Amino acid sequence: MAGDKKPGRVLSGMRPSGKLHLGHLHGVLENWLRLQEQYECYFFVADWHALTTEYQDPKGIRDNIAEMVIDWLSVGIDPLRSVIFRQSEIKEHAELFVLLSMITPLSWLERNPTYKEQIAEVKDRDIHTFGFLGYPVLQTADIIIYMAEKVPVGIDQAPHIELAREITRRFNYFYGETFPEPQTLMTESPKVLGTDGRKMSKSYNNAIYLSDPPDAIEKKILTMTTDTARVKKTDPGNPDVCPVFISFHRHYSGTDTMEWVKEGCTTAAIGCIECKKSVIPAVLERLKPVREKRMELSRNPEKVWGVIREGTMRADAVAKKTMYGVRKAMGIGF
Ligand code: TRP
Ligand code: SF4
Repeated sequence: MAGDKKPGRVLSGMRPSGKLHLGHLHGVLENWLRLQEQYECYFFVADWHALTTEYQDPKGIRDNIAEMVIDWLSVGIDPLRSVIFRQSEIKEHAELFVLLSMITPLSWLERNPTYKEQIAEVKDRDIHTFGFLGYPVLQTADIIIYMAEKVPVGIDQAPHIELAREITRRFNYFYGETFPEPQTLMTESPKVLGTDGRKMSKSYNNAIYLSDPPDAIEKKILTMTTDTARVKKTDPGNPDVCPVFISFHRHYSGTDTMEWVKEGCTTAAIGCIECKKSVIPAVLERLKPVREKRMELSRNPEKVWGVIREGTMRADAVAKKTMYGVRKAMGIGF
C-alpha cells in the first residue's frame, strides 16, 4: 500500500443488492473515490449482511456481488489503491462477531433506531431473527477487525457506528486496549431523486442505473417528473423542488446552464423538455467511460472475481493478525 497516504484506515461495506444507480454514484461511490486518493481504504461486499434480509432466497446474492463490484470498478474504485474483498470469505469476522456478541447488552441492540424502524416498516418478509437484531454487532466486527478508524456511511448508518464505538470501548475496558474506536466519516450525501420524484431506489422502480444504455437514460430523463406545480408551460416553476434540477443539473451542469435554468424556469421562459434536453449530453458523457469499463468487465467475469480474490487475501492477513491479538487479550481460543 502506498506510503504517502494520511494515517487512519478507512473501511466501508455495501450489501450486494445488484446493479448500482446514480443514487449510489453521487451518494456513496464519489465519496469512496475521493477517500481512496487520501487514505488506505478497505471496501467490502457485505454478503453476510445481505442474508439478514435475504435468507429465504440467497441464490441471487452471488450474481449481485459480481454486478456490484463491476460497478465499483467501472467508476474507478481501484484494486491497486484499495483493498476490495468479500466478507463471507473471511471467517474471522464470524469469530469476532461471536466474541463481541458475548459482551453486547441486548438493550443496546433493542434501542437501535434503525432496528426499531425496520421492524415497524418491513412487512414483506420476517426479520424477527437473531441475525437481524445482531446486525450491528457483525458490523462492528467488520470494522474493528481491520483496526479501521474511519467509516464513511450515510446518516441512516450513523447509529450503527455509534454502537460500534460503544462495543469497542467495552471490549477495550474488559480486555485491555486492543482496538481504536471507529469514527463516522459522515458522507454529505447529496439527494438524488428518481424518475418519479421520490428518493432514487431500486425498490421504487425509479432508478437510472450505471448500466443503462444511453437511449434508456435519455428516455428516463425525458419522462421524469418535474416540479409538480408546473402543470402548463406557461406556469413558472421552481428548480429547487424539481427532481430534474436536483438530480441532474446540480450534478452535471455548469454554472451558466444552471443560471439559464433558474431564470428560464421561474419566468416560464423555457419548457421542461428543453430544460431536460440541456442536461442529457452531460449525463451521457459522464457515464460513457463507466459504461465502457462496465462492458469490458462484464465480458470478463473471471477478472472481477480475481480482483475480489486478491483483495480477500490481503484483508485475510490483517484479520488473522487481529484475531491473534484478540484471542490473546481474552485468553481464549488459542
Ligand atoms: N450495514 C451497511 C449497509 O447496509 C453495510 C455494512 C456492513 C457496513 N458492515 C459495514 C458499512 C461496516 C460500513 C462498515 O449499508
Ligand atoms: Fe424542472 Fe427544468 Fe421544468 Fe423547471 S424547467 S420544472 S427545472 S424540468
